[in-house]
Amino acid sequence: MSDKKIRHYLQFNDFSLEDYEYVLERARILKRKFKNYETYHPLHDRTLAMIFEKHSTRTRLSFEAGMFQLGGHAVYLSTRDTQLGRGEPIEDAAQVMSRMVDIIMIRTFGQDILRRFAENSRVPVINGLTNEYHPCQVLADIFTFYEHRGPIAGKTVTWVGDANNMLYTWIEAAKILGFKLRISTPPGYPLDQALVAPESAPAFEVLDDPHEACRGADLVTTDVWTSMGFEAENEVRKAAFADWCIDAEMMGRANPDALFMHCLPAHRGEEVTADVIDGPQSVVWDEAENRLHVQKALMEFLLLGKLNH
Ligand code: CP
Ligand code: NVA
Repeated sequence: MSDKKIRHYLQFNDFSLEDYEYVLERARILKRKFKNYETYHPLHDRTLAMIFEKHSTRTRLSFEAGMFQLGGHAVYLSTRDTQLGRGEPIEDAAQVMSRMVDIIMIRTFGQDILRRFAENSRVPVINGLTNEYHPCQVLADIFTFYEHRGPIAGKTVTWVGDANNMLYTWIEAAKILGFKLRISTPPGYPLDQALVAPESAPAFEVLDDPHEACRGADLVTTDVWTSMGFEAENEVRKAAFADWCIDAEMMGRANPDALFMHCLPAHRGEEVTADVIDGPQSVVWDEAENRLHVQKALMEFLLLGKLNH
């Protein structure tokens, strides 16, 4: 196998606009095949290894079910019961695993761990969430927006909450897909400029007031106040983020047909009120379902390239 053709998906920036146009259209086709109970096994005999160093419900299930639906097989590996948990170097694990399987998804801590793994892998590597980025989720969210409202280019997306892996991925997406991003994070929780490429700066605006940030939005989105790996900060964060809870009043500042998104799991009464997340503007269940369809399109694209059927 030649290393030259390998493409990884480590962050949203790894794909071009043209790649996204293809993958999103492919997700639409694969979703339709699935809904029509059409058997489609392009990844027959292929194996996906899924490495989890953090918890997961959606990512694990959508990758495992997705690989099965495409005719392949998925293997779940956790830090707890592999040699990774006993200090095997990530580079060695990449060398070994990538000789046995065709594609690998990893959920881990630092993006540097993912990069080191990919540098030593003979097969495509997918980011299933790191401290810095969560590209599969934002891909699903953009597909969900497209299904409900059409192309996202030129629209306004508002992020209210923590400067976390979801936000840094939305920032990359705004630049590539051509939408405006309005961001409001609480005092003491600013953007980490090291994670924001200078060329992304024109794509987003930072506002102190979360209500003002929601004005004129076509999509309002948020995430947990405390991400995995930061649990020790939970109580301090709850106090600092109290006014960054998306409620009906904030949604009222957005456009009347604005959507609400949350990658889940959610905490009703913290980052979002129950009436918003369970209300008519919320598309959170579609977002979750669409992880399945976009990731099937992603795996198919990374393994088989562009298809026309
Ligand atoms: N949204 C998301 O990635 O969910 P899980 O943590 O359950 O995989
Ligand atoms: N920002 C969250 C997303 C969980 C899917 C976390 O990293 O824990």
